[in-house]
Amino acid sequence: MQRHKPQTMIRNMFNHEHVITKTADEQLQVERNVKEVYDNYRRLTKVIENFPLLKREDHIRYLMNSIVYLPRTYECLDSARTWLCYWSLHSLSLLDHLNKMDAKVLSSMIKFLGKCQSPTGGFGGGPGQLPHLAATFASVNALCIIGTEEAYKCINRQTLRTFLWSLRSPEGAFSMHIDGEIDIRGAYCALTVATLTDIASVGLFAGTAEWVKSCQTYEGGFSGYPGMEAHGGYTFCGVAALVLLQKLHLCDSENLLRWIVNRQTRFEGGFQGRTNKLVDGCYSFWQAGAFALLHELLMRESPPDQFLFNNTALQEYILICCQHPTGGLKDKPGKRSDLYHTCYVLSGLSIAQTSLGGKSLVLGPAENEINKTNFVYNINPHSVLKAKTYYQHRDIEEESNAQVIEM
Ligand code: FPP
Ligand code: ZN
Repeated sequence: MQRHKPQTMIRNMFNHEHVITKTADEQLQVERNVKEVYDNYRRLTKVIENFPLLKREDHIRYLMNSIVYLPRTYECLDSARTWLCYWSLHSLSLLDHLNKMDAKVLSSMIKFLGKCQSPTGGFGGGPGQLPHLAATFASVNALCIIGTEEAYKCINRQTLRTFLWSLRSPEGAFSMHIDGEIDIRGAYCALTVATLTDIASVGLFAGTAEWVKSCQTYEGGFSGYPGMEAHGGYTFCGVAALVLLQKLHLCDSENLLRWIVNRQTRFEGGFQGRTNKLVDGCYSFWQAGAFALLHELLMRESPPDQFLFNNTALQEYILICCQHPTGGLKDKPGKRSDLYHTCYVLSGLSIAQTSLGGKSLVLGPAENEINKTNFVYNINPHSVLKAKTYYQHRDIEEESNAQVIEM
């Protein structure tokens, strides 16, 4: 395995050029906090071997406890309960713990997700809630991660197909829910759930690629809606949607590459979501995921032998700045861990560790290596294959008794 030398010593801090604005001040404060953490890290590296270490067991304990009990701070996420299932399950799968989980716990999660499915198709964020594309994306992903017959049968593909058609606009964009906002997340979520469950059709996505392409901004990244600001979350959705439509070549890849390489922060090593904003651990996935997908397009022209971001710097930011001492991962030093950041920081770590051309890219001891993720769906690659194969062999028209639990 290739050993990595710490890079934290050689990076330049932000130069405010004697103009202290609110954003410059916030950036300097973040860099001071990060520097303190990196300085401690360098001191510890001299005395502790195997550093930085992924606190795998602490993260597993944190995630397993969250499945049973959530603190009051999660009350505001009542409409994101299907997301909580996906974030926990995907994190546990990355940490290689899914296969050690009690089948009864997984079955009760399936039953819970079944209660979130609307009789009119799609899933809401919680039982009895309005069906929403983001909640549907989270539910379908969670069920495919579990990947049992019970999980697959939970999805009513006939009503899901009707739901997707009801959200399609004439030009091929998708709104997030009936009478809801149209944005690029809609196109991405509709495409992922439709392709995983084998209900995609040419008609359903006619014009979608052109609409997604129209969200690419002058900066090079994608915005949520044509004319808005480029952002890492939306860029990932746009790039992944074009990959699913096999039309990534429609985007301006040079401009996208220039925008995205500039989103990796020089001192911290992690990614920011947009120009002149702060580093945040969750963009380790949104930005590095878009990089990994873009890589496949660049490969066709002149194959680079590694992803075009600094994967050592990203792993340093994740392992040194984003791990909470008692488990869970977070946005940046000074913040608390939460399930969203645990999922997306670990997903970013998995991408940063992905070896191209056979070289291992794991920072720290070999045990730090976590499982792979599919860059488009952000679930285990094996779960993607298994779900697609399952649904491809089932005739949707004969599936009249799929589970819809009425509240
Ligand atoms: C800005 O937050 C955040 C956004 C504008 C949206 C981000 C979009 C995603 C993360 C993609 C969601 C994907 C799916 C599949 C539903 P902010 O202003 O708090 O953060 P910032 O300062 O880092 O920009
Ligand atoms: Zn974040």
